Amino acid sequence: MKNRRTFLKTACKPIVLAAFGIPILEACSTEETPESSTSSGSQSQATPKEPLQIDLTSSQFLDLEVVGGWINYRDEDLLLIRISANEIRAFDNSCPHQGNRDRWSFDGSKFTCGYHNNSYSNSCSGSLTCYTTEIDGTILTVNL
Ligand code: FES
Repeated sequence: MKNRRTFLKTACKPIVLAAFGIPILEACSTEETPESSTSSGSQSQATPKEPLQIDLTSSQFLDLEVVGGWINYRDEDLLLIRISANEIRAFDNSCPHQGNRDRWSFDGSKFTCGYHNNSYSNSCSGSLTCYTTEIDGTILTVNL
């Protein structure tokens, strides 16, 4: 009797159930199965995008010829603004409030989203996501 109790306490449950004629498909091991390296979400990294090159001579960028000129370049989801002869800033055109992209206005120092009239500085230290840019001749490179 003592041996039977000891057996029931120490044997893994599937073996006990099998001893009573109850089939069950379960391993007795208590070790955790290591996850495959492809299933781990915590180690995934965002793939950096290729820099975007924009030909500023294209007619859709004419507003960027003058300091203070800006466009909402919706093809690439960017707000572009000419800061000086040698600088054009690029921001993600997703509103920090709710992510809308298509109702922007600019008053000379800040962008305003028309959905709820929140305004954001045209500084790269503001709330809009800012990308570094380079101008080489008529080519603007935006490092996304
Ligand atoms: S979505 Fe832009 S202010 Fe609300």
